[in-house]
Amino acid sequence: MPNTVIVGAQWGDEGKGKIIDVLTEEADVVARYQGGNNAGHTVEIGAEHYVLHLIPSGILHDDKICVIGNGVVVDPLALLGEMDALHARGIATKDKLLVGDRCHVVFPYHRLMDESREARLARGRKIGTTKRGIGPSYGDKASRQGLRACDLVDPAFPDLLAQRLEEVNSVLQAVGAEPVDPPRLTAAYAVAAERLAPYITDSVVYLNRAVASGKSVLFEGAQGTMLDIDFGTYPFVTSSNATAGGACTGTGVAPHRIDRVVGVVKAYTTRVGEGPFPTELDDETGKHIGRTGHEFGATTGRARRCGWFDAVVARYSAMINGIDMWAMTKLDVLDALETIRICVAYDCGGERLDRVPANVRRLVRCRPVYEEMPGWRASTRNARRMEDLPAAARAYVDRLCEITGVPLGLLSVGADRNSTLRAGL
Ligand code: GDP
Ligand code: IMO
Ligand code: MG
Repeated sequence: MPNTVIVGAQWGDEGKGKIIDVLTEEADVVARYQGGNNAGHTVEIGAEHYVLHLIPSGILHDDKICVIGNGVVVDPLALLGEMDALHARGIATKDKLLVGDRCHVVFPYHRLMDESREARLARGRKIGTTKRGIGPSYGDKASRQGLRACDLVDPAFPDLLAQRLEEVNSVLQAVGAEPVDPPRLTAAYAVAAERLAPYITDSVVYLNRAVASGKSVLFEGAQGTMLDIDFGTYPFVTSSNATAGGACTGTGVAPHRIDRVVGVVKAYTTRVGEGPFPTELDDETGKHIGRTGHEFGATTGRARRCGWFDAVVARYSAMINGIDMWAMTKLDVLDALETIRICVAYDCGGERLDRVPANVRRLVRCRPVYEEMPGWRASTRNARRMEDLPAAARAYVDRLCEITGVPLGLLSVGADRNSTLRAGL
């Protein structure tokens, strides 16, 4: 299989975990490139239900290598918890999982700062983070204060952490949070370091050698384009580059080694957390979509906000990521609807916009301009080929592809691996 980036095209939770799991069959290596355990990637295999946070979704395949790339921020305790949970279900990680030695480490003080920042933000300015310490950890990385996986396994780790805690504790005290006890934290992380040491390696060299020897790599994005720190609805975003460019900076594999980009997109839109969402439905249809699609956060359990497909967002996403084809998910969730709407443009104070404005204060004033299509009112869940779909369902999918200018590669009509229709991918 060509080296492929899998990127979320909306606000995350598009079904990346399922798509990665399906495509891992044809890949040799799966590499996560950004985010941390803010992600929740679900994979359903028959009656088995897995939610992965830090470990790539390819781990459920026996003979594949999974890499946590340098762009990921790793909470070692969370990672060990996730590994243990997999081991308990008979899924091995030994010799299958590699953790990049350049990954930044998430500490409990990052979580405390995340929580305390959110608590202090006024209503309307809260981001609704997952409180996993992601923002403060990437903040430390950018301000060159972070500790990395290579530091965690260095004999100098206790000193490096003690130095860092001097500033951290003064900040925590200033915001009224409990200071961290250096010996206790060092001891907890030393135990984690010992367990993780066999997994920590130079993932950049590993991945480049794999690519050079003709192995195929799937680059697993977390979150989605509209949560990207540069291109999303800033400041209501996460703190990393979820977009396709992040695959290069987050793994150390050069752009021209990547062959294609697949955008994962839901047949409607959801968002979890705060921030503008032009096509949000605050009505019975929104509730119906949420119920039918089980739209609850895989990480925090929060109800996801639901709305119609936003083609302005999808086109923007296609442009930034260079999306070659869609992996469209959750078409089945729309099965019972009488009519379905597609947002084709925004009306922003009388001006028609066909792009996402940078300024969120402008975006909240945008009203969606809809086009309406008839629903199909039949189950698509048992469809296995495009020809099995009701004509109106096919027309809806075709219209989404036409309006976004991106062809369909794969269509998903259920959470299970098997509920997947191939259309060129
Ligand atoms: P991710 O973060 O992008 O991996 O997505 P999540 O796992 O957070 O959320 C997607 C949810 O939709 C999960 O519960 C999946 O099991 C489920 N899912 C994925 N594809 C489909 C589909 O085509 N139909 C239905 N009904 N559920 C799906
Ligand atoms: P996956 O990979 C959906 C959202 C949070 C919040 C914002 C910032 O499962 O698609 P953070 O904790 O990252 O600082 O929170 O980003 N968010 C996600 N929303 N899916 C995710 O990941 C998300 N990861 C973060 O809800 O609005
Ligand atoms: Mg998710």
